[in-house]
Amino acid sequence: MPRAHIELGRQAVIAPVRRRTFGSFVEHLGRCVYTGLYEPGHPSANDDGFRMDVVELVGELGSTTIRYPGGDFVSGFRWEDSVGPREKRPVRRDLAWRSLESNQVGLDEFAGWLKLTGSEPMLAVNVATRGILPALDLLEYANHPSGTALSDLRIANGTPQPHDVRMWCLGNEMDGPWQTGFMTADDYGKPAARTAAAMKRADKDLELVVCGSSGSTTPTFGDWERTVLEHSYDHVDYVSCHAYYQEHDGDLGSFLASATDTDYFIDTVVASADHVGHKKRSNKKINVSFDEWNVWYLKGHQASEKMHDEWRHARDRVTSASLAQLVNVIAPIMTEPGGPAWRQTTFYPFSITSRLASGEVIRPLIEAPTYETARYGEASVVDAVATADEDRAAVFLVNRDLAQAAQVTIDVRSLGSSRITEAVTLADSDVYAKNTLARQDRVTPAANNGAALADGLLTIELPPTSWTAVALR
Ligand code: AHR
Repeated sequence: MPRAHIELGRQAVIAPVRRRTFGSFVEHLGRCVYTGLYEPGHPSANDDGFRMDVVELVGELGSTTIRYPGGDFVSGFRWEDSVGPREKRPVRRDLAWRSLESNQVGLDEFAGWLKLTGSEPMLAVNVATRGILPALDLLEYANHPSGTALSDLRIANGTPQPHDVRMWCLGNEMDGPWQTGFMTADDYGKPAARTAAAMKRADKDLELVVCGSSGSTTPTFGDWERTVLEHSYDHVDYVSCHAYYQEHDGDLGSFLASATDTDYFIDTVVASADHVGHKKRSNKKINVSFDEWNVWYLKGHQASEKMHDEWRHARDRVTSASLAQLVNVIAPIMTEPGGPAWRQTTFYPFSITSRLASGEVIRPLIEAPTYETARYGEASVVDAVATADEDRAAVFLVNRDLAQAAQVTIDVRSLGSSRITEAVTLADSDVYAKNTLARQDRVTPAANNGAALADGLLTIELPPTSWTAVALR
């Protein structure tokens, strides 16, 4: 049985737990919006046609900021189509997903839905096929209180209060040849910078996200970030990362070590951003918005300040992230038109982590056996993330061993924890098992009853290929 030992030092702070890193993403794609969030006539629908069973699951998921309306969809989007009387809204061809968009759900309806879920909006402007003025118009419509043409139009459309959207994406995946209006880094960096500068002229407190690479294996990765930021550094606050992982050719070992790539991706983007910042002699730091991440079987269907001390590592630069996507499309929440909504397997780690993570992220020192992966080199059999505030701590663990349980001891003395309040594990003898309409609870977390804490030493057994959370007081 593999054995691992983890030291948790209360002072080894990486960064505060930021609520925005529990964001998600709603795109006009597939059944995410229509018959996902919105299904008038569904037994659980409210007067506006939104499914309250889905709203309830979104609350339980614990997602925070929600990115909208795309994704690739945004590169063909005219925001004006999506507001005003519904019967007058045009049906448009959406070239990104080759579908018809009825515009029956638009900006104001989505903002109304967000209120039901208590989430914050993160909107995208279309830099690919539109321009600065439509972006400024959308900003005025969404955020200006009243007394201008477009804010008054919003009010006339039934939304008196401004939506007060803080985070804005400047297009989406502009490096990808699949993107309508895709560009070279040089061609994108310029309009992105100008759009950002103009938007900040309207509201200097906006938080703007410039497109980074759509994956860490794209041919332009690294150079793209450098070039785009050379143009836009002074005007933007975030650079985006997108990553989807899947098992390739039966190589489950590499797939389970995908987080190695995520680390490499973030480190490289931060290095590129800092390189540009140093060249510009700028004190400003660009953060990372990891605004699309998930498992996606594409092939299959196309510190607080007081914690400073010598242990401290560079602060984490990912201050916002979005699980892509929220409902039906690569999603933690699934729905059946006219039928139920249920939790996909991926729902549980997200929801439990969102609920238990608090305070600051603590860097764990992990001693564990390693194994060789074809894609990412050596990977630790056991991986862990830990968080702690003054009262609570949590450890999130993965056992990547396909066949054997791992016995783990965790030294939590420096956290001062004295009891376990919750220990749950997500595992299944069939690693490909999922939750379906017919079997909605096929895979659910179960209490890990073997977890024990004595004299500051937590002991726990992790089943093969499993995910576990332990909450401490
Ligand atoms: O999340 C699905 C799609 O994946 C998004 O529209 C696009 O940005 C990415 O390629």
